[in-house]
Amino acid sequence: MAEGIRERIERLREEIRRHEYLYYVLDQPEITDAEFDVLMEELKRLEAEHPELITPDSPTQRVGGKPREGFVKVRHSSPMLSLDNALNEAEFLDFDRRVRQLLGGEPYRYVAELKLDGLSMAAHYREGLFVQAVTRGDGIEGEDVTENARTIRSLPLRVKSELRAFEVRGEVVMNRRAFEQLNLERDKQGLPRFANPRNAAAGSIRVLEPWITATRRLDYWAYFLLVDGQPYYASHWDSLEALAGMGFKVNPHRRLCADAEEVLEFWREWSERREALPYEIDGIVVKVDSVEQQRRLGWTAKAPRWAIAFKYAARQAETVVEEISVQVGRTGVLTPVAHLRPVEVGGVTVSRATLHNEDEIERLGLQIGDTVIIERSGDVIPKVVRVKAYGSPRRPFRMPSACPVCGGKVVREEGEVASRCINTNCPARLKESILHFASRGVMDIDGLGEALVDQLVDRGLVRSVADLYKLKLEDLLPLERMGRKSAEKLLRNIEESKQRPLPRVLTALGIRYVGERTAQFLAEAFGSLDAIAAADVETLQGVPEVGPRVAQSIYDFFREPRNRELVERLREAGLQFRYQAERRRGGPLEGLTFVLTGTLPTLTREQARAMIEAAGGKVTGSVSKKTDYVVAGEEAGSKLQKARELGIKVIDEATLRRMVGERA
Ligand code: IVH
Repeated sequence: MAEGIRERIERLREEIRRHEYLYYVLDQPEITDAEFDVLMEELKRLEAEHPELITPDSPTQRVGGKPREGFVKVRHSSPMLSLDNALNEAEFLDFDRRVRQLLGGEPYRYVAELKLDGLSMAAHYREGLFVQAVTRGDGIEGEDVTENARTIRSLPLRVKSELRAFEVRGEVVMNRRAFEQLNLERDKQGLPRFANPRNAAAGSIRVLEPWITATRRLDYWAYFLLVDGQPYYASHWDSLEALAGMGFKVNPHRRLCADAEEVLEFWREWSERREALPYEIDGIVVKVDSVEQQRRLGWTAKAPRWAIAFKYAARQAETVVEEISVQVGRTGVLTPVAHLRPVEVGGVTVSRATLHNEDEIERLGLQIGDTVIIERSGDVIPKVVRVKAYGSPRRPFRMPSACPVCGGKVVREEGEVASRCINTNCPARLKESILHFASRGVMDIDGLGEALVDQLVDRGLVRSVADLYKLKLEDLLPLERMGRKSAEKLLRNIEESKQRPLPRVLTALGIRYVGERTAQFLAEAFGSLDAIAAADVETLQGVPEVGPRVAQSIYDFFREPRNRELVERLREAGLQFRYQAERRRGGPLEGLTFVLTGTLPTLTREQARAMIEAAGGKVTGSVSKKTDYVVAGEEAGSKLQKARELGIKVIDEATLRRMVGERA
């Protein structure tokens, strides 16, 4: 029997690994996400029932590693040096000439690869298992980011190889799409945006909490295979092929080139095609293929003589800042925006660039009239990189003391970089908050776009998001570009939005720092909007991921009379104020009943309950024959006694955590 389950678990793991490989490495899934989830859920359930069979390379074990206090420094097996750059064709040909001379005229070949713009990381494997990941750091020593790297789905946790121990080096990258979505989410939470996918990838791998990395959708592209710090195969090309064969993600856009001319062709070709890639590249990397020749070419103090980064010019352009205006966002933040003399950058005409805040303008030393260098990376809003020449005349920008939209007072609080309009009635804030309220993933009111919101606010039809639920057909029909059909549809969508569950409602309120995830935790912990509104700062801090700053912000929100009024009006409209803990069907604890007793080492009762319910289990108040597990902490009393009498399994918090899929 136990044998049967052990085998089933192994078969499931094999199958899941294969589908992960097809999906995350090859980008060629054979089954739907739903079908994949079914396999994963079965594995989770079996592992929850048999925690003794959980192994670290199980696909269920990607997330759940413990957060850390800080990162441990690890010395690299051999230095992870950087590359010299060639910034144009002539510089590349110089490099080639040096290689030819140093090799004394013997034939050689190059491998050309794309230079993905991320950060390099070494991944160590022993007996076929992933055991450690280390960032490049200063090249000699990096940081141990093992638990975070484990969450990268294209990084195999187990590989088939005869090698007892080996090391892979490669690049951690965030795709443009994932990057855009991450920044949107950060906007919603009032957090600063990442400037580019590279910073986002670096920031994501270096967080202390692995679950954060897990939500960031990173990729790992392998480009070196080392044993004892040295290349394993005699040819770099063979080593890339071998890595691909072992299940690593190796970039398919690579070429074995017979000479420098072929490298130039590859470089020119990708200069055109790179915009169409789902990730950013900033050039190509060219390496001498033969490892023996690499050895003879050797290294300078900081880079190999056998490889070079052959870069593309950054998509920069020079133009003049003609004006600086100020935009007002949902939370009242004033963002200075540079109005540029229109200029083409990488095939796109640009006339605006964000300046973020006053400090940034000061850092740049920018005044209106100056000539600046702007840069566009990916689909990101262009930014001003530096001032090239002072304008004459030029005039300084001053953050207005009155809001440009409503005339309300603008303040910049101590320790903050942002200036805000503090008038909660400011139409600009109102428009932004309506757009947020209606957006996808929040209240999901389809058809409520910018043009419509402008009209609703400007005509005084909507003075608060609660007014949306009072709109009538007669209100909508006179609006521009609004037919009867679309008006009826919009009203239906608004009506439907009343069914969105509490976490969505909470997100929709636009409380500072409360994004989707925090809202979910709050709803799970408190069960109703009223309980959250009534909670004090300390209780709020008992909720996972709610720190002092977030707790204070929630507390303040519900103490503000205008917000209370809004909440009451939304209640009248019939929004969901109570949380139906969706018992996750197919969760690892499905069908199991728990009783909690005593004080657990780190979880409050509410948190333990939420954890169990989120995993599909049930929590009851008293021990009976129907109880499957009693979770006991310190000073557990009569319930523990009863459990022992009835022969019910007693577990501690650590075991519970393992059962829901966290790793020890
Ligand atoms: S080889 C000593 N290959 O570019 C060899 N690097 O400017 C060093 N990079 O630090 C790395 N794609 O972060 C190599 N296919 C590729 C690469 C690549 C991106 C990055 C890597 C490295 C930097 C060097």
